[in-house]
Amino acid sequence: MIHALLQVLYFFLPAYLANMSPVLVRGTFDVLAVPIDGGRTLWGKRLLGDHKTWRGLLAGIVAGTLVFEIQRYVYEAQVARHLALIDYSAHPLLPGLLMGLGAGVGDAVKSFFKRRIDIEPGASWPVFDQLDFFLGAYLCVSPVYAPPLLLMLASLPVILLGNLVSNAVGYWLGFKETWI
Ligand code: CTP
Ligand code: MG
Repeated sequence: MIHALLQVLYFFLPAYLANMSPVLVRGTFDVLAVPIDGGRTLWGKRLLGDHKTWRGLLAGIVAGTLVFEIQRYVYEAQVARHLALIDYSAHPLLPGLLMGLGAGVGDAVKSFFKRRIDIEPGASWPVFDQLDFFLGAYLCVSPVYAPPLLLMLASLPVILLGNLVSNAVGYWLGFKETWI
């Protein structure tokens, strides 16, 4: 069970790092730092808000693809193969791209709901803020490969905890606005 859990976490590493990437590219590619919703509103409230930018979404897609390609390289070098859930050589690029995209879309969909219930951009919405990217990445990559549902459920607490820790570290380093 622990081994299978580690395999799932390893599989979603591209999504995890894609989710962290938007804050790392702040201050670069300023031309892309425009809100995805273009300022549009629904019932007087912003669709997604100023914090969901094209720069962040693209950073996630690039990061997801890159991390997956590194995993493919590692797999082909016969390293850490016991962690692999899929045959990485048979799936170039696409799963990484889908996980990066899914992580960003999941995050943006969550922001859509945050705005509907009047949570300001940057203010925290515990649990949803931590799991949004994971669910998005899972749904997006599932046409290529979907880990068993039971394993997905079992990994939720680990993802939740891992994300709380990385967020706290990000806050401490000055990347994030809130500690949770
Ligand atoms: N970010 C971005 N574009 C995205 C996602 C994130 O530019 N598509 C950047 C923003 O600077 C954002 C930061 O990454 O403030 C942290 O992202 P996140 O915690 O997901 O957003 P929040 O600031 O909490 O905004 P929201 O309330 O809409 O979730
Ligand atoms: Mg947040």
